[in-house]
Amino acid sequence: MDTRVAVAKKALEKNGYLDLEVDPLMDLFAEIERLKREKNAIVLAHYYQDADIQDVADYLGDSLGLSQQAAGTDADIIVFAGVHFMAETAKILCPEKKVLLPDLRAGCSLADSAPADAFKKFKAQYPDHIVISYINCTAEIKALSDIICTSSNAEKIIESLPPEQKIIFAPDKNLGAYLRKKTGRDMVLWNGSCMVHEIFSLEKLTRLKVRHPEAKVIAHPECEEAVLRVADYVGSTTGLLKFAMKDDAPAYIVVTETGILHQMQKNCPEKTFIPAPPDNSCACNDCPHMKLNTLEKLYLCMEYETPEIIMDEQLRLAAKRPIDRMLEISARYGL
Ligand code: 13P
Ligand code: SF4
Repeated sequence: MDTRVAVAKKALEKNGYLDLEVDPLMDLFAEIERLKREKNAIVLAHYYQDADIQDVADYLGDSLGLSQQAAGTDADIIVFAGVHFMAETAKILCPEKKVLLPDLRAGCSLADSAPADAFKKFKAQYPDHIVISYINCTAEIKALSDIICTSSNAEKIIESLPPEQKIIFAPDKNLGAYLRKKTGRDMVLWNGSCMVHEIFSLEKLTRLKVRHPEAKVIAHPECEEAVLRVADYVGSTTGLLKFAMKDDAPAYIVVTETGILHQMQKNCPEKTFIPAPPDNSCACNDCPHMKLNTLEKLYLCMEYETPEIIMDEQLRLAAKRPIDRMLEISARYGL
């Protein structure tokens, strides 16, 4: 093995990715296509990835669509352009496949907001409740849950349970509060949140609305209640994209991570999409975890087949049960 590669592999644990120089003249799009063919690899990407990564993806989607694709693929290698919990979910569903993540440090503030030990104690206080966990959590939290959900199926999953069934919803308190309102179910909420969706400024959003009276506000349910209250439509990333494609407004103020604007603009070139500003000096709102993946790191992880998601088998099996339940309920509702 090339000594440069051996050194980079050794430093993988520290760096989280293969720190190798990539020839700036290399056509990364063509190279990634070659690697997909040669290795029977599929690239699954979330809407919050960089535009270049979205453009090389075989499948682009929200968390539900991505897990359904992972469960159904016949590829030998799944390259996950997203964050760790997403790649981990793919590995849980497809243990026989190699699952690669371009940068292992691509975590999630929401998943981090629910440490397993603290959650175990919290859960013990409500022995007659069942646990519905948002997919944005670690495998350890999944293993402590009864059903997993995403932002596109959460409402249906809650409604599939008998009305008297008591529920703990974790880890996102904003999505939980939104679902409490939508379903009328009095769920106990874990106090977690997403650093990206919590930071939108209601004041700046209100000013934008005044400046663009023709624009509709579309928001992700991980946002705070005050922001959701002024939204014309609330939905998952796929939901927001579909709404913008079928609705007839000329402009939209988009209250979620900015990566989704690439697909909105691509699918609706005649419409205007305005990213909602966060409560800091930036004009738009990127997820620092999602944006750790780059086209170079994607190419490198495919070329050298590392970093790879490796899981303890017992944990994988325990985490798979509530994900399977989510996939079954989703299929029943045609989601
Ligand atoms: P969805 O993909 O379900 O829309 O969730 C967005 C998100 O925050 C993913 O991390
Ligand atoms: Fe996690 Fe929020 Fe980033 Fe999604 S946007 S990956 S919930 S930190």
